[in-house]
Amino acid sequence: ELISWLHDPENKDVIRKWERKRQDLTIVEQIGQGQFCYVVKAKLRMQTSQHTVAAKTIRADQAGEVVQRDFLRETKLLSDLHLPQDASSSPSTNQNIIQFYGYVLDKARVYLLVEYAPYGDLRNYLSSCRHRCQSSGPLGVTAEQDREFLRFARGVANALAELKRKKVVHRDVAARNVLISADREAKICDFGLARDIYTESEYVKLSNQQGDDGPLPIRWMALESLQDGAFTYKTDIWSYGILLWEIASLGGRPYPGLSADKQLIDWLSAGKRMDRLDSCPDHMYKVMQKCWMKDPAARPDPTDLVQDMDNLVNTSE
Ligand code: ADE
Repeated sequence: ELISWLHDPENKDVIRKWERKRQDLTIVEQIGQGQFCYVVKAKLRMQTSQHTVAAKTIRADQAGEVVQRDFLRETKLLSDLHLPQDASSSPSTNQNIIQFYGYVLDKARVYLLVEYAPYGDLRNYLSSCRHRCQSSGPLGVTAEQDREFLRFARGVANALAELKRKKVVHRDVAARNVLISADREAKICDFGLARDIYTESEYVKLSNQQGDDGPLPIRWMALESLQDGAFTYKTDIWSYGILLWEIASLGGRPYPGLSADKQLIDWLSAGKRMDRLDSCPDHMYKVMQKCWMKDPAARPDPTDLVQDMDNLVNTSE
């Protein structure tokens, strides 16, 4: 299905702009894997330059339909989010969205190419700090780390502002889907891989779920998504509030007291929300609470969040 989509004349525009040649891609090593996908580090040669990229691939002959659809969705989204790019132009997107480099066809395999982010995903970054850092700032890490985390949070808000402008709903805003680039910027990514790698623990198939959407990241989802399967840019804002909580807990798992996922809907519809952690500054918790308002219209806009995070960075100095 995937290969035929890529050969379909209707998709020619997306395709032509983004296809790279197999011989321009040199695979270095494997850096991650899930059940259906894996990611390799690779070098991509372009006309005048070479880029280190992460190349994600699924086995087109083995993966099920949902996986293929996720993969396609990611390819389409990334190409929509990026202007045409040639070798001489600098990265063409928002600095907080992972840079897309196109894709390569190799027999029955498709490689999706994005900028390589050497510091890995934000969730791992946070939890390795928890194990390493000495406490002194409000989040229980050094004051410098504190500021860096808030800068990441600002970056994600900035990415959400761009997604809103492009009318893209991400649906899976979470620390595991934010990568830290070589210049230590937060880059929102993954319109599908985390689902594969983190399937067991974070993605759950709901009993009231319609259609064949695959398992869902329920602990990051807005109440109306859990209830009605609705995803809007306002539900991404809810998830952003959960991401802030992940930062405050240094990579903790949301709703730590909740053992059965099924209880979540009842608990949230009764108006309950996660408490403020001791490590979480009051004004940061206030932002989370706004993101978790029952009324989607009452939640902040991404541009408000950028402003809030700027204020937080400044007050933590
Ligand atoms: N793992 C998944 N995607 C990655 C990327 N772009 N850079 C580094 N590691 C990754």
